[in-house]
Amino acid sequence: MTISVEPAFADWSRDIAMRMEEVLAGLLPAASATPGRLHEAMRYSTLGGGKRVRAMLAHAAGRVTSAPADRVGIVASAVELIHAYSLIHDDLPCMDDDVLRRGKPTCHVEFDEATALLAGDALQALAFQLVSEYKLCDDPLHQLKLIETFAHACGSRGMAGGQAVDLGNVGKEIALPELEFMHILKTGALIRASVLMGAACGQPITTGQQAALDRYAQCVGLAFQVVDDILDCEASTESLGKTAGKDQEQGKPTYVSLMGLPGAKSFAVELLADADTALAVFDGRAARLRELAAFIVNRHH
Ligand code: IPE
Ligand code: IPE
Ligand code: MG
Ligand code: MG
Ligand code: MG
Repeated sequence: MTISVEPAFADWSRDIAMRMEEVLAGLLPAASATPGRLHEAMRYSTLGGGKRVRAMLAHAAGRVTSAPADRVGIVASAVELIHAYSLIHDDLPCMDDDVLRRGKPTCHVEFDEATALLAGDALQALAFQLVSEYKLCDDPLHQLKLIETFAHACGSRGMAGGQAVDLGNVGKEIALPELEFMHILKTGALIRASVLMGAACGQPITTGQQAALDRYAQCVGLAFQVVDDILDCEASTESLGKTAGKDQEQGKPTYVSLMGLPGAKSFAVELLADADTALAVFDGRAARLRELAAFIVNRHH
């Protein structure tokens, strides 16, 4: 009899990050292919950095539904491509005007603004090409639904909309429900989609289980941005690999500016508890999702 021992979270997450690097490097156009500068910028901003949390969430959710790892790998890549695009555009002078990302000069600093804009556009298109090109679900109609979930999470009712709300709120005093709405859209939507799409690559689950997974994904998605707000205020530029203290400098309403540091921290812990509770309907297969939620809330970068 063979007893399989699950690797510890640190080993598992390192392994996913390494595999993602390889898969993404193979999926992205070669820098030698024309237009080389654009392809170079796409690779520059996608490869060689990032925590790959969204990819990990897709893989962890895929375990719950026994999804094949190669299918989840495509979903995880697509989500990380959208994330990379969102960061390139987020850093542009017309948005957060940042010069440092993942410990390197931002895309528009390393290349130029037009190239950065186009690299983001092209990464988004590549993400949708992948989820359309590869077989991800046994039933093509389920795959269409997956693509719809993805598009919704990226668009004006998801990440792009959240970014618009973020820019519209600069220098304004807003109330907690408005802040929550903004965070759910700008960051929560793509994180939620990562979980739902990873799970959608596997066996069907009951409506109750689907609702529980969704509840988990929404708690973790919001918690992710709450912690990002906390780290912007508490962590160093060196450990973040991006300029610390930007939110206050730019007059962005955040969980820290509305609730104070202790309030924001206890809200993140509350969300972690809610995420954990939501997973009660699953057995040990949800263990990685639990570990990831704890990682997201307790991280230092
Ligand atoms: C940063 O996301 C931007 C937000 C949506 C808060 P991450 O903290 O996941 O960035 P990387 O991928 O690790 O660089
Ligand atoms: C960005 O939020 C959310 C995105 C959709 C990229 P932030 O502006 O707080 O992200 P950082 O702090 O620059 O990574
Ligand atoms: Mg921003
Ligand atoms: Mg920013
Ligand atoms: Mg931030």
